[in-house]
Amino acid sequence: VKALPDAATGRSGAVLLIRNIGELCTCAPGLPRAGAVPRAALVAVEGAVVWCGPGADLPGEMERRATTVIDAGGGCVIPGFVDAHTHLVSGGSRAAEFEARREGVSYEEMARRGGGIASTVRATAAASDEELLVAAAGRAAAALATGTTTLEVKTGYGLEVDGELRLLGLIEQLRGRVAQELVATLLPLHALPSGRDRDAHVHAVISHELPAARGRAEFCDVFCDRGAFSTDECERVLRAAAGLGFGLKLHGEQLDHTGAAMLAARLGAVSVDHLEHAHRDDAAALASAGTVGVLLPGANLSLGGVRPDARMMLAAGMELALATDSNPGTSQTTDMRLMVALGVGLFGLTPAESVVAATRGGAAALRRRDRGTLGAGKRCDLVILECETHVDLAYRLGGVRIARTLVGGVQRHP
Ligand code: NIG
Ligand code: FE
Repeated sequence: VKALPDAATGRSGAVLLIRNIGELCTCAPGLPRAGAVPRAALVAVEGAVVWCGPGADLPGEMERRATTVIDAGGGCVIPGFVDAHTHLVSGGSRAAEFEARREGVSYEEMARRGGGIASTVRATAAASDEELLVAAAGRAAAALATGTTTLEVKTGYGLEVDGELRLLGLIEQLRGRVAQELVATLLPLHALPSGRDRDAHVHAVISHELPAARGRAEFCDVFCDRGAFSTDECERVLRAAAGLGFGLKLHGEQLDHTGAAMLAARLGAVSVDHLEHAHRDDAAALASAGTVGVLLPGANLSLGGVRPDARMMLAAGMELALATDSNPGTSQTTDMRLMVALGVGLFGLTPAESVVAATRGGAAALRRRDRGTLGAGKRCDLVILECETHVDLAYRLGGVRIARTLVGGVQRHP
């Protein structure tokens, strides 16, 4: 086994062969069991897959030309996880709040007492840029070690226009410190800054924040829920964002049924995330709009309460993603293996549906059709697992060890 091409030099013409794959899950659409192929091999050139299939069918020419060979040791290979919803840049800890919630104070009551999002906003403002970058890069490294090859990262804990633009700048700097591609999302409506007039805030977002963030964030997201922002406020901001070229996302139907999902469908949003309170007609509208439903089991587990009806959403024809929602308030994790296990255990997905939601689904929620599946022409973003099949991810409750994580055909972990 030779060393993999160096990330810095990239070595042109390098042919990577991964052999002795016990099960290769391509996660390609329309196939049962996550497109599982037993006893498989995969070949990649210049960071892209050129061939994968049963090892017995590996073309001799490719085998001879391989410049790097990895023996998967009979392990399962899946596409790298695409974590399509994170709040990676934040300061402080809310472990004490977590404890208080377990002692009976609700999430919304906590927010009314000045905790919740506002407490992370204060801690983020108090932290230096370097402190925030080190913390966020540490989370991205943890994500890499658990198989995540693409990460969406939201602002949101800046709250005011200046604070939000600071966080956007930090996400840009973070790109130089992590192995994964980062997809930036502006989250201008997360919580109302204390003492601010609602209309004035929405107006400031539309007239200052969105134009200043144009071209720097790919998506614009809003927290459209009870106690956060109304569908009218969100619609004004999202329409302005769409006019400036942002793709649209919403945090919706998490705490109550507010109409956020219907708004997402009407605006042709790329995704609507959380969806605990979504109804059957919401799901039908999202399916016909092609809006991806991003389910967040970490937040659901942390807050308790109603679970999203994933089976109903799939039956309605929706495409589903699973993501960590990594944030200090409701889901302090970056581990997509755990999300796959919880997608099965909490939300009733099959192991295959859960793996597909964490890979192809995440890619769809970020409009990245070049990844999330393994096949000729796709990015060579993949994970070699120390287990026999994809079922083990759920069966072992997220405890499957990661042998290697490859990003763009280059081993970045360990
Ligand atoms: O996705 N729902 C709103 N935002 C985050 C939680 C933010 C926080 O509590 O800090 C979420 O769950
Ligand atoms: Fe979130």
